[in-house]
Amino acid sequence: MKPIIKVENLRKVYRLGSERVVALDRINLVIHEGEICCILGTSGSGKSTLLNMLAGLERPTAGSVTVCGVRISETSEKKMALFRQKNLGFVFQSYNLLNSQTALENVALPLVFKGVGKRKRILAAKRMLKAVDLGTRMRHLPSQMSGGQQQRVGIARAFVAHPRVVFADEPTGNLDSKTTIEVMELMCRMAREHKQTLVIVTHDSEIAEYADRVIHLIDGNIVDDRYTDKKIATEEISEENTANEYEIKA
Ligand SMILES: Nc1ncnc2c1ncn2[C@@H]1O[C@H](COP(=O)(O)OP(=O)(O)O)[C@@H](O)[C@H]1O
Ligand SMILES: [Mg+2]
Repeated sequence: MKPIIKVENLRKVYRLGSERVVALDRINLVIHEGEICCILGTSGSGKSTLLNMLAGLERPTAGSVTVCGVRISETSEKKMALFRQKNLGFVFQSYNLLNSQTALENVALPLVFKGVGKRKRILAAKRMLKAVDLGTRMRHLPSQMSGGQQQRVGIARAFVAHPRVVFADEPTGNLDSKTTIEVMELMCRMAREHKQTLVIVTHDSEIAEYADRVIHLIDGNIVDDRYTDKKIATEEISEENTANEYEIKA
């Protein structure tokens, strides 16, 4: 699998007056194309800081971050904004929908920034809303939808422009357990359909069960990084296939 995110000796230190907070100590990490990764850790362990660095929303104190072959830790803010529009999607804990805009307008928004014409935008946004099972809520405002429905709009918006990587920071943090399952299944299905990379941040170990890989963060350090059974099973199957090929040849 091809690497899509590469993090080298990443450090982030916040200064608050005379206090120093080491949010990320020294992170080294490679995420591959199409992986569904979960960054797991308790509150304050540095998860959001790491995600913000991977998305170029914050600058490291030291070290580098490369995404889709671009060293984003050294890219200007202006170029970064364009890079994000082209390559990245986001799902937020509090949905971050525009309250005065309908579900359809919210989902179409990333395509406005990409310069897609109005007809195509509306078509694509409608298709996405149907895919997240909100075909009957297109004209609703966020305030006229449940939390789970709003997050499904958020997911449709994150995926509508076919980003290479989607980042989700505590995407189910405001949802009940039944809606959490629906939202997680939806997000993973969307990512798998187009082999998009998905990086989910959470404090909830049950969320981690949806991922191919779980990266455990404590006090700004990666203390554990493992592929889940699901992933190992997939790899075993492909190894078996390879073995058979050799047998046939021999
Ligand atoms: N802008 C900031 N200024 C100062 N300290 C911060 C800032 N953002 C985060 N921190 C500190 O960095 C640490 C990691 O925070 P964060 O990445 O938000 O953790 P998590 O998302 O895992 O809850 C915490 O101790 C937090 O208080
Ligand atoms: Mg956080």
